[in-house]
Amino acid sequence: MMNSFISWIGGKKSLRSKILEQFPDKKEYNRYIEVFGGAGWVLFSLERHAKMEIYNDVNGNLVNLFRCVKYHPEALQKELEFTLMSREQFFSAKEQMKSKGLTDIQRAARFFILIKESFGVDLRSFGVRSKNMENAIEYIMAVSKRLNTVVIENLDFEHLIKTYDRKDALFYLDPPYYKTEDYYSEKFMPDDHVRLKRSLDKIKGKFLLSYNDCEYIRNLYKDYKIIGVDRTHNMIIQKNKPRYMEVLIKNY
Ligand SMILES: C[S@@+](CC[C@H](N)C(=O)[O-])C[C@H]1O[C@@H](n2cnc3c(N)ncnc32)[C@H](O)[C@@H]1O
Repeated sequence: MMNSFISWIGGKKSLRSKILEQFPDKKEYNRYIEVFGGAGWVLFSLERHAKMEIYNDVNGNLVNLFRCVKYHPEALQKELEFTLMSREQFFSAKEQMKSKGLTDIQRAARFFILIKESFGVDLRSFGVRSKNMENAIEYIMAVSKRLNTVVIENLDFEHLIKTYDRKDALFYLDPPYYKTEDYYSEKFMPDDHVRLKRSLDKIKGKFLLSYNDCEYIRNLYKDYKIIGVDRTHNMIIQKNKPRYMEVLIKNY
Protein backbone atom coordinates (compact mmCIF):
# COMPACT_ATOMS: atom_id res chain seq x y z
CA MET A 1 0.00 0.00 0.00
CA MET A 2 1.58 3.24 -1.17
CA ASN A 3 1.33 6.42 0.91
CA SER A 4 0.52 9.87 -0.37
CA PHE A 5 3.45 12.25 -0.52
CA ILE A 6 1.67 14.90 1.54
CA SER A 7 -0.64 15.31 4.51
CA TRP A 8 -3.84 17.23 3.97
CA ILE A 9 -6.69 18.42 6.16
CA GLY A 10 -9.31 15.68 6.09
CA GLY A 11 -6.88 13.27 4.42
CA LYS A 12 -8.11 9.70 4.51
CA LYS A 13 -4.89 8.06 5.68
CA SER A 14 -6.41 6.16 8.59
CA LEU A 15 -9.71 5.39 6.89
CA ARG A 16 -8.51 4.20 3.49
CA SER A 17 -8.82 0.45 4.20
CA LYS A 18 -12.40 0.87 5.39
CA ILE A 19 -13.19 2.85 2.25
CA LEU A 20 -11.60 0.27 -0.07
CA GLU A 21 -13.64 -2.48 1.63
CA GLN A 22 -16.79 -0.76 0.42
CA PHE A 23 -15.73 -0.41 -3.21
CA PRO A 24 -17.65 -2.59 -5.68
CA ASP A 25 -16.01 -5.55 -7.33
CA LYS A 26 -13.20 -4.51 -9.69
CA LYS A 27 -15.06 -6.09 -12.62
CA GLU A 28 -17.88 -3.62 -12.21
CA TYR A 29 -16.01 -0.47 -13.15
CA ASN A 30 -13.44 0.61 -15.71
CA ARG A 31 -12.84 4.18 -14.65
CA TYR A 32 -12.09 5.50 -11.19
CA ILE A 33 -12.65 9.17 -10.41
CA GLU A 34 -11.50 10.87 -7.22
CA VAL A 35 -13.58 14.05 -7.23
CA PHE A 36 -12.24 15.85 -4.12
CA GLY A 37 -8.69 14.64 -4.48
CA GLY A 38 -6.77 16.46 -1.72
CA ALA A 39 -3.68 14.38 -0.91
CA GLY A 40 -5.23 11.41 -2.72
CA TRP A 41 -4.82 8.85 0.07
CA VAL A 42 -7.38 6.49 -1.45
CA LEU A 43 -5.97 6.90 -4.95
CA PHE A 44 -2.45 6.04 -3.80
CA SER A 45 -3.58 3.11 -1.69
CA LEU A 46 -3.77 0.85 -4.74
CA GLU A 47 -1.29 0.32 -7.52
CA ARG A 48 -4.15 0.80 -9.95
CA HIS A 49 -7.89 1.19 -9.39
CA ALA A 50 -9.02 0.92 -12.98
CA LYS A 51 -7.86 1.24 -16.54
CA MET A 52 -8.66 4.93 -16.41
CA GLU A 53 -8.02 6.97 -13.26
CA ILE A 54 -8.81 10.62 -12.62
CA TYR A 55 -7.63 12.85 -9.78
CA ASN A 56 -9.40 16.19 -9.36
CA ASP A 57 -9.33 19.11 -6.94
CA VAL A 58 -10.57 22.67 -7.24
CA ASN A 59 -7.45 24.00 -5.45
CA GLY A 60 -5.16 25.34 -8.20
CA ASN A 61 -1.95 25.26 -6.13
CA LEU A 62 -2.55 21.66 -5.14
CA VAL A 63 -3.29 20.60 -8.71
CA ASN A 64 -0.21 22.45 -9.96
CA LEU A 65 1.85 20.51 -7.40
CA PHE A 66 0.36 17.19 -8.58
CA ARG A 67 1.04 18.10 -12.21
CA CYS A 68 4.64 19.09 -11.52
CA VAL A 69 5.21 15.84 -9.59
CA LYS A 70 3.75 13.92 -12.52
CA TYR A 71 5.46 15.69 -15.42
CA HIS A 72 8.57 17.34 -13.94
CA PRO A 73 9.69 15.33 -10.89
CA GLU A 74 13.39 15.98 -11.43
CA ALA A 75 13.00 19.70 -11.90
CA LEU A 76 10.87 19.85 -8.76
CA GLN A 77 13.43 17.86 -6.77
CA LYS A 78 16.11 20.19 -8.01
CA GLU A 79 14.12 23.25 -6.98
CA LEU A 80 13.73 21.70 -3.50
CA GLU A 81 17.30 20.56 -3.22
CA PHE A 82 18.48 23.28 -0.91
CA THR A 83 15.41 23.23 1.27
CA LEU A 84 16.00 23.39 4.98
CA MET A 85 13.44 23.29 7.70
CA SER A 86 13.59 26.86 8.82
CA ARG A 87 11.13 29.42 9.96
CA GLU A 88 12.69 32.03 7.72
CA GLN A 89 12.49 29.89 4.65
CA PHE A 90 8.90 28.92 5.43
CA PHE A 91 7.76 32.53 5.58
CA SER A 92 9.65 33.51 2.47
CA ALA A 93 7.98 30.62 0.58
CA LYS A 94 4.64 31.88 1.85
CA GLU A 95 5.40 35.42 0.70
CA GLN A 96 6.66 34.28 -2.70
CA MET A 97 3.47 32.27 -3.32
CA LYS A 98 1.66 35.62 -3.60
CA SER A 99 3.82 36.82 -6.46
CA LYS A 100 2.74 36.23 -10.02
CA GLY A 101 6.28 35.88 -11.33
CA LEU A 102 6.83 32.24 -10.38
CA THR A 103 7.10 29.36 -12.82
CA ASP A 104 4.85 26.37 -12.17
CA ILE A 105 7.79 24.43 -10.75
CA GLN A 106 8.84 27.27 -8.46
CA ARG A 107 5.27 27.61 -7.26
CA ALA A 108 4.92 23.85 -6.70
CA ALA A 109 8.14 23.75 -4.65
CA ARG A 110 6.97 26.58 -2.41
CA PHE A 111 3.55 25.01 -1.93
CA PHE A 112 5.23 21.70 -1.06
CA ILE A 113 7.25 23.50 1.63
CA LEU A 114 4.11 25.11 3.07
CA ILE A 115 2.40 21.71 3.22
CA LYS A 116 5.38 19.94 4.78
CA GLU A 117 6.36 22.59 7.28
CA SER A 118 3.14 24.21 8.41
CA PHE A 119 1.43 23.35 11.65
CA GLY A 120 -1.36 20.82 11.01
CA VAL A 121 -1.13 21.59 7.27
CA ASP A 122 -2.77 24.97 7.83
CA LEU A 123 -0.32 26.43 5.26
CA ARG A 124 0.02 29.53 7.43
CA SER A 125 1.90 28.89 10.67
CA PHE A 126 5.33 27.36 10.90
CA GLY A 127 5.24 24.05 12.75
CA VAL A 128 8.44 22.98 14.38
CA ARG A 129 8.62 19.32 13.54
CA SER A 130 11.69 17.37 12.69
CA LYS A 131 10.59 15.95 9.41
CA ASN A 132 13.02 14.37 7.08
CA MET A 133 12.81 16.61 4.06
CA GLU A 134 15.39 14.60 2.16
CA ASN A 135 13.22 11.47 2.16
CA ALA A 136 10.16 13.50 1.24
CA ILE A 137 11.95 14.96 -1.76
CA GLU A 138 13.26 11.58 -2.84
CA TYR A 139 9.76 10.06 -2.63
CA ILE A 140 8.55 12.45 -5.37
CA MET A 141 10.03 10.11 -7.98
CA ALA A 142 7.93 7.10 -6.89
CA VAL A 143 4.82 9.27 -6.76
CA SER A 144 5.53 10.56 -10.25
CA LYS A 145 5.59 6.98 -11.54
CA ARG A 146 2.28 6.21 -9.84
CA LEU A 147 0.72 9.33 -11.41
CA ASN A 148 2.02 8.45 -14.84
CA THR A 149 -1.33 7.07 -16.01
CA VAL A 150 -3.57 9.28 -13.86
CA VAL A 151 -5.46 12.14 -15.49
CA ILE A 152 -5.22 15.29 -13.36
CA GLU A 153 -8.10 17.77 -13.46
CA ASN A 154 -8.76 21.13 -11.82
CA LEU A 155 -12.54 21.45 -11.97
CA ASP A 156 -15.49 22.11 -9.74
CA PHE A 157 -17.13 18.79 -8.78
CA GLU A 158 -20.32 19.34 -10.76
CA HIS A 159 -18.49 19.90 -14.00
CA LEU A 160 -16.15 16.97 -13.33
CA ILE A 161 -18.96 14.53 -12.57
CA LYS A 162 -20.78 15.48 -15.76
CA THR A 163 -17.62 15.08 -17.82
CA TYR A 164 -16.66 11.60 -16.61
CA ASP A 165 -19.98 9.97 -15.78
CA ARG A 166 -20.54 6.62 -17.52
CA LYS A 167 -22.26 3.42 -16.54
CA ASP A 168 -18.89 1.83 -15.79
CA ALA A 169 -17.58 4.68 -13.62
CA LEU A 170 -16.79 4.60 -9.91
CA PHE A 171 -16.68 7.99 -8.19
CA TYR A 172 -15.08 8.34 -4.78
CA LEU A 173 -16.08 11.65 -3.20
CA ASP A 174 -14.63 13.18 -0.06
CA PRO A 175 -16.07 16.70 0.15
CA PRO A 176 -15.32 19.15 2.97
CA TYR A 177 -17.29 17.89 5.95
CA TYR A 178 -20.53 19.49 6.95
CA LYS A 179 -19.74 22.50 9.19
CA THR A 180 -16.00 22.39 8.53
CA GLU A 181 -16.13 23.88 5.07
CA ASP A 182 -13.85 26.82 5.79
CA TYR A 183 -10.81 24.68 6.66
CA TYR A 184 -10.02 24.86 2.97
CA SER A 185 -8.90 27.86 1.00
CA GLU A 186 -11.51 27.08 -1.64
CA LYS A 187 -14.77 27.80 0.11
CA PHE A 188 -17.43 25.14 0.03
CA MET A 189 -20.77 26.75 0.79
CA PRO A 190 -23.65 25.13 2.69
CA ASP A 191 -25.59 25.08 -0.59
CA ASP A 192 -22.80 23.09 -2.18
CA HIS A 193 -23.75 20.04 -0.08
CA VAL A 194 -27.17 20.17 -1.70
CA ARG A 195 -25.69 20.87 -5.14
CA LEU A 196 -23.49 17.77 -4.70
CA LYS A 197 -26.46 15.63 -3.70
CA ARG A 198 -28.34 16.79 -6.81
CA SER A 199 -25.47 15.86 -9.11
CA LEU A 200 -25.19 12.45 -7.47
CA ASP A 201 -28.92 11.81 -7.87
CA LYS A 202 -28.45 12.06 -11.62
CA ILE A 203 -25.38 9.91 -12.20
CA LYS A 204 -25.29 6.73 -14.25
CA GLY A 205 -22.20 5.30 -12.57
CA LYS A 206 -21.54 4.18 -9.01
CA PHE A 207 -20.51 6.46 -6.19
CA LEU A 208 -19.04 6.16 -2.72
CA LEU A 209 -19.18 9.30 -0.62
CA SER A 210 -17.58 9.95 2.78
CA TYR A 211 -18.85 12.48 5.33
CA ASN A 212 -18.83 13.21 9.02
CA ASP A 213 -21.71 11.52 10.79
CA CYS A 214 -24.41 14.08 11.52
CA GLU A 215 -28.16 14.42 11.34
CA TYR A 216 -28.09 16.82 8.39
CA ILE A 217 -26.12 14.48 6.12
CA ARG A 218 -28.03 11.37 7.20
CA ASN A 219 -31.23 13.16 6.34
CA LEU A 220 -29.98 14.54 3.02
CA TYR A 221 -28.93 11.04 1.89
CA LYS A 222 -31.75 9.10 3.49
CA ASP A 223 -32.57 7.35 0.20
CA TYR A 224 -29.10 5.81 -0.05
CA LYS A 225 -27.19 3.13 1.78
CA ILE A 226 -25.38 4.68 4.78
CA ILE A 227 -22.64 2.81 6.63
CA GLY A 228 -21.15 4.13 9.88
CA VAL A 229 -17.38 3.81 10.13
CA ASP A 230 -14.83 4.71 12.65
CA ARG A 231 -11.12 4.46 13.25
CA THR A 232 -11.21 3.36 16.84
CA HIS A 233 -14.47 1.45 17.34
CA ASN A 234 -15.40 3.92 20.07
CA MET A 235 -18.73 5.27 19.10
CA ILE A 236 -19.73 8.73 20.16
CA ILE A 237 -23.00 8.69 22.03
CA GLN A 238 -25.07 11.81 21.48
CA LYS A 239 -28.40 12.05 23.25
CA ASN A 240 -28.50 8.25 23.51
CA LYS A 241 -27.98 7.91 19.80
CA PRO A 242 -24.82 6.20 18.67
CA ARG A 243 -22.78 8.36 16.34
CA TYR A 244 -19.88 7.16 14.30
CA MET A 245 -16.95 9.35 13.38
CA GLU A 246 -17.85 9.19 9.73
CA VAL A 247 -20.32 7.70 7.32
CA LEU A 248 -19.88 6.12 3.92
CA ILE A 249 -22.79 6.59 1.55
CA LYS A 250 -23.26 4.61 -1.66
CA ASN A 251 -25.70 4.05 -4.50
CA TYR A 252 -25.01 0.35 -5.04
C1 LIG B 1 -11.58 16.32 2.67
S1 LIG B 1 -10.52 16.97 1.43
C2 LIG B 1 -10.10 15.55 0.50
C3 LIG B 1 -9.07 14.70 1.17
C4 LIG B 1 -8.59 13.50 0.37
N1 LIG B 1 -9.60 12.46 0.27
C5 LIG B 1 -7.32 12.92 0.97
O1 LIG B 1 -7.26 11.72 1.28
O2 LIG B 1 -6.37 13.68 1.13
C6 LIG B 1 -11.61 17.90 0.39
C7 LIG B 1 -11.01 18.53 -0.85
O3 LIG B 1 -12.07 19.06 -1.66
C8 LIG B 1 -11.57 20.18 -2.37
N2 LIG B 1 -12.71 20.96 -2.85
C9 LIG B 1 -13.41 21.93 -2.18
N3 LIG B 1 -14.42 22.41 -2.93
C10 LIG B 1 -14.38 21.73 -4.12
C11 LIG B 1 -15.17 21.77 -5.33
N4 LIG B 1 -16.19 22.63 -5.44
N5 LIG B 1 -14.85 20.92 -6.34
C12 LIG B 1 -13.81 20.06 -6.22
N6 LIG B 1 -13.03 19.98 -5.11
C13 LIG B 1 -13.30 20.81 -4.07
C14 LIG B 1 -10.67 20.88 -1.37
O4 LIG B 1 -9.72 21.68 -2.04
C15 LIG B 1 -10.05 19.69 -0.60
O5 LIG B 1 -8.78 19.38 -1.09
